[in-house]
Amino acid sequence: MCGIVGYIGKAEAATVLINGLRRLEYRGYDSAGIAILDDDRLVVAKAPGKVARLSDKAHADWAPELLQRACTGIAHTRWATHGPPTEVNAHPHLDKSGNIALVHNGIIENYRSIRSRLEGRGHFFYSETDTEVLAHLIGECDKGDLFQAVCDALHQVVGTFGIAVLSSHEPDRIITARRGSPIAIGIGDGETIIASDVSAILAHTQRVIYLNDDDIAIVTADSVDVRDLHNVPVTREIAELGIDPAAAEKGGFEHYMLKEIHEQPDALGNAIRGRLDFNLGTSMLAGMGTSPRELAEIGRVVLLGCGTSLHAGLVGEYAFEDLADIHSEVQQAAEFRYRNPILGSRDLVVAISQSGETADTLAAVREANQKGAFVMSLCNVVGSTIARETGRGVYLHAGPEISVASTKAFTCQVVVLLMMALKLGRGRRFSREDGIKFAREIESLPALVGRVILQNERIAQIAAEYTNNEHAFFIGRGPMYPVALEGALKLKEISYIHAEGYHAAELKHGPIALLQAGTPVIAIACDVPGKDKILGNIEECCARGARILGLVTEGDYATAERMHDAIFIPRCHPLVATIPATVALQLFAYHVARLRGCEIDQPRNLAKSVTVE
Ligand code: AGP
Repeated sequence: MCGIVGYIGKAEAATVLINGLRRLEYRGYDSAGIAILDDDRLVVAKAPGKVARLSDKAHADWAPELLQRACTGIAHTRWATHGPPTEVNAHPHLDKSGNIALVHNGIIENYRSIRSRLEGRGHFFYSETDTEVLAHLIGECDKGDLFQAVCDALHQVVGTFGIAVLSSHEPDRIITARRGSPIAIGIGDGETIIASDVSAILAHTQRVIYLNDDDIAIVTADSVDVRDLHNVPVTREIAELGIDPAAAEKGGFEHYMLKEIHEQPDALGNAIRGRLDFNLGTSMLAGMGTSPRELAEIGRVVLLGCGTSLHAGLVGEYAFEDLADIHSEVQQAAEFRYRNPILGSRDLVVAISQSGETADTLAAVREANQKGAFVMSLCNVVGSTIARETGRGVYLHAGPEISVASTKAFTCQVVVLLMMALKLGRGRRFSREDGIKFAREIESLPALVGRVILQNERIAQIAAEYTNNEHAFFIGRGPMYPVALEGALKLKEISYIHAEGYHAAELKHGPIALLQAGTPVIAIACDVPGKDKILGNIEECCARGARILGLVTEGDYATAERMHDAIFIPRCHPLVATIPATVALQLFAYHVARLRGCEIDQPRNLAKSVTVE
């Protein structure tokens, strides 16, 4: 999704802004732009493509003296929604006078009617964007008070926005506001940084104010004045991020994705730490904010998410039913609110979102709240919108996940779901002895994942045999079925191979028609219930010439010999085994993509956080 950075302080604004955009590159975009104030003049540079191109253009267009004296500016990376990724469509956009610059995340749904109204009053638009219309509307509302002009313009807007606005007439401030698209404000020493994602703030400060929907703030180098859109002051606490800026660096790895795969033993350790009770054989998840009695009243669990988070929910569905004997179902978040869900006070709704900003999942949370369900979230980003709007839930503590392809967030989501299922189960029929045993299995996960990561070089060699395929099938059964889906998503999103995940039994109901000699089938054949059936499915595939890469339990050489290639997964509880199995498929996807020369951390067309519906 798009990225916003604003700066007002004493440093070179252009340098701060471009470095901030670089921190946001992982979110995905296709053009970028920057506006800085040179005394009473706005200067703007924009470029399609990477931030590096914008930086080159700005340093070519602007004299060093200008760069040194300009200490206020805004900048943006654009993921195109209205109009192609061209220089003219890139943000910032200016109003008619050229004195006001705007950067915007979100969608102005009524921009066409506003545009035609302004065109009738002599406005001319250079771009195809909804954002330029908002810039002109702010200019039209400007009667000498930029804050009021922005308020008046936003009252006419239908849609979502995260914005930063600059005026050459009021060089001591930036106006920022949000509705449905995140804005964080970093409080520095004599400087203030605005960003759509805290990763652009980390280098400057750990002190952050998060705007809520319909908040608008007047930001200067030394103050942040937050109000609502009716100019009524509101109080927003300053949060401490507690994130090591180095954690958002590559740390010597070739890609963020490889770093984050290798971080999983530590990330899982952080997700588990202090949350298992080996005396009672249960988990301690205070953030759920629930008493045993409240949990005992829960009649159903509904798991919401998109993409990888949806796949984590599918594993959670098996866990809640296996461990807690409770009816569970997974809903694709985008579909959820449009199907008028049947929900009530005995339903526990768990919104799963790494970023905590996915628009579809946020909308589903709001619908679930409307229906009176018991709503909580599993998020990785502290203070994110979904985390704040549910008001209860469990943070993953996985650390910043920069690569667009989600890895450590998925495995941490699954382990937290296992702990939630354990907690609910111990309030029902799951015994203390079984609880202690399962808790020990969870506790061993960092080591189990470490044993898979030790096979990295061998997985890279295996991957070399699969780089020339344009199709691939992933198959699994039981809780390994969502692992197959996740493995397919990893491969398709970073290597651009058309990979599909199927329940193993489903192949012969149609998809097997696609199998030809050499078609790769990645089969999860670990020692889990249904293994004998999946071995039969593998034979069906072999009979049609498929090339089989199997995930096999350590020591099961008899099964390994039936595959062309095998990756070994530690023996553990079937639900726990989903995590090391996924790590094996993450490494497989990574090495195939690397060998195909793909842009791994920022795949084409993708964004790290999808903040538009
Ligand atoms: C997965 O690799 C992708 N990054 C994508 O499917 C992602 O999981 C999805 O967009 C949901 O994001 P969230 O977890 O931040 O809500």
